[in-house]
Amino acid sequence: MSGSKPIYLDYAATTPLDPRVLEAMQPYFGADFGNPSSVHGFGQRAETALEDARQRMADLLNAKPEEIIFTSGGTESDNLALGGAAMAARQKRGANHILMSPVEHHAISKTAEQLASHFGFELELLPVDELGMVQPEEVSKRIRPETALASIILGNNEIGTINPIEEIAAICRERGVALHSDAVQSGAYLRLDVQKLGVDLLSIGAHKFYGPKGVGALYVRSGTPLLPMQTGGSHEFGLRAGTPNVAYIVGMATAFEIAQTEIEQRAGKLSKLRDKVIEGVLKSIPDTKLSGHRHLRLANHASFVFKGVDGNALLMLLDNAGFACSSGSACKTGDPEPSDVLLAMGFSRDWALGSLRVTLGIHTTNEDIESFLTTLPKLLARVRSLEIA
Ligand SMILES: Cc1ncc(COP(=O)(O)O)c(C=O)c1O
Repeated sequence: MSGSKPIYLDYAATTPLDPRVLEAMQPYFGADFGNPSSVHGFGQRAETALEDARQRMADLLNAKPEEIIFTSGGTESDNLALGGAAMAARQKRGANHILMSPVEHHAISKTAEQLASHFGFELELLPVDELGMVQPEEVSKRIRPETALASIILGNNEIGTINPIEEIAAICRERGVALHSDAVQSGAYLRLDVQKLGVDLLSIGAHKFYGPKGVGALYVRSGTPLLPMQTGGSHEFGLRAGTPNVAYIVGMATAFEIAQTEIEQRAGKLSKLRDKVIEGVLKSIPDTKLSGHRHLRLANHASFVFKGVDGNALLMLLDNAGFACSSGSACKTGDPEPSDVLLAMGFSRDWALGSLRVTLGIHTTNEDIESFLTTLPKLLARVRSLEIA
């Protein structure tokens, strides 16, 4: 794509920082650099900013400020939720069973696998349907008195499907089991009201909604037993030691405020463009399927599988043609492994290896999508004719 600007269609990987967010962060890199734990004026100014950010996050989530734990991002929030709640439930009531969906991000699935392999927890995977959705009755069937917690993703990073968390939470609550949900992909497109969702733990990460990378939050409902995974000072109510990154936390609160306030407008615009991508791709390319739910999916998220195609080769051709997309999962060229998520949904290896994720954002235009829809069929034909797969 000689000369023209590349088109970014990978907003699920990360988003650019909103200039308003950068402006809000700036003072804490400069004059207000203090450590919030210090008693002097520098410290107190930082502390005020930190607690103001916590209050704003709490208000947006419909939570209490003391239920918001700041972390270094989605991964840490997921690790703390899963590890901390599992360990605490075992300590408190001898619970040893973890219930998880098979479509979780690695920040959850790898953590759960480690809890099973190194710490003796029994890990049980819930089934999902062919759209990657967890059915509440399956949770009901599998939850037991010794279940330490259940972890089920809200909006899926790979396939976009949104799980029925409210119904699942009602079941977990009735059975006295904590429910964690990974909402890292959902902050920009779903209203995250923890009372409505009914979750006990909820992970978010700022860089998915135009905030900075390396900062996130974990909502912990009051009374949910949680053991800290990072020990040291008494920061974050004793649940996450370490001097907080004030500038980034202020940035996250500002970004979250903008994202949650502008949600309807952004989701409305993007879902139309997303539908255009879905319809255009399905119409113009043979042996193609949408992965994930057609309607109950994140507003900015389109994902596909193409039969008999090397997804990585396609991504490279797209990149050369000026389109930054993703396969949706971390697989490497040369040693391609199909995504566990797609396999759990019932796709055969032949289909699952040819995955493509196209995720839109606030800077995506109709022209970007038209240009993408014109180019993709040609690249698919090329990759198929080269028999790269
Ligand atoms: C659903 C989900 N959970 C967790 C994470 C981890 O977030 P981070 O890499 O920012 O720590 C991601 C990142 O892509 C994600 O999509």
